[in-house]
Amino acid sequence: MKELKPARILAIETSCDETGCAIVADGRALLASTVASQMEIHARFGGVFPEVASRQHVLAIVPVIEQTLETAHLSLADVDAIAVTRGPGLAGSLVVGVNAAKGVALGSGLPLVGVNHLEGHLYSAWVYDIGNAAPKVPQFPLLALLVSGGHTELVLMSGHLEYRRLGATQDDAAGEAFDKVARTLGLTYPGGPAIQEAANGGDASRFNFPRAKLASPWDFSFSGLKTAVLRTVKDLEGRSATLPVADLAASFQAAVIEVLFEKTMAAAREFNAQEILVAGGVSANQRLRETFQAQSDFKLHLPPIALCTDNAAMIAAAGYFRFAHGFTSALDLDVQATWPLS
Ligand code: KG4
Ligand code: ZN
Repeated sequence: MKELKPARILAIETSCDETGCAIVADGRALLASTVASQMEIHARFGGVFPEVASRQHVLAIVPVIEQTLETAHLSLADVDAIAVTRGPGLAGSLVVGVNAAKGVALGSGLPLVGVNHLEGHLYSAWVYDIGNAAPKVPQFPLLALLVSGGHTELVLMSGHLEYRRLGATQDDAAGEAFDKVARTLGLTYPGGPAIQEAANGGDASRFNFPRAKLASPWDFSFSGLKTAVLRTVKDLEGRSATLPVADLAASFQAAVIEVLFEKTMAAAREFNAQEILVAGGVSANQRLRETFQAQSDFKLHLPPIALCTDNAAMIAAAGYFRFAHGFTSALDLDVQATWPLS
């Protein structure tokens, strides 16, 4: 295998409601990562309010970059390239990060590397904290389950930067289903962590929620499950019953995880994957991690919990592999709100 040139990448991520900056060495060793979350602000609206998100990025971006350089005890002279999330995401949010990255690249003379946010999520599994021993490098062909708030897909990686999308959700993403069901159960935004907590001690077998069967075995659908939870809640409320929130949350969570796990295993077998990878916000879910860790037939790669939800370390990692393979972007780089991996 070709040896890649060492490089330190400073990356910026502003695709949704987290303003992130990070520095990663050689696509793996995390030197510093800063995430300014807007979660509390958006929780008031029960979801991300795009214009508010853009303006918060404007306020946070420079302090977040400065903080990252300070934590790493580095200056821009120690960095080899500036990576930035170009899409997919909220256009107004992406513009703030892309323009900040252009400014830094122009001012420092460093090359700019536009990165796909989904590619970033996949590469989060390569990253480890510089204080820890390096985990084994993921081996190709690699079957990746990408589960976030905006995407749920099965991707076959045959090598660095080589993707084949096998299937994806036909309606809601898994994280979106967590967020919507949390709202139905009267839990706070974001729904994933709220459902995980509410499900603790709940009886996951109390409600037998549907597991969608689809024409393509690599596609997903979560809207029927979401509606089934809503119908059960309405039915219980109609009978003035106290909502068994823990059991509802646990049963919903179990239904989502079962489908994600079964399809990932089946796809890994079908496409002769050597190893598997799970990434994206939902991969922070404790029960999901335990299920994959305990039952996977393949060597499993999971990002550290802090790098499952949006962050810039994953963009720095993906940016490194792009940069090391000779990809750079011009300074007229535009954002791309919709941008499939393959
Ligand atoms: O990757 P991410 O930060 O943003 C997108 O690219 O979409 O994912 C956010 C999603 C949200 O829907 C959130 O509810 C979900 O990830 N999430 C979780 C957990 N933590 C975050 N879902 C289940 N369990 C969690 N612990
Ligand atoms: Zn994301």
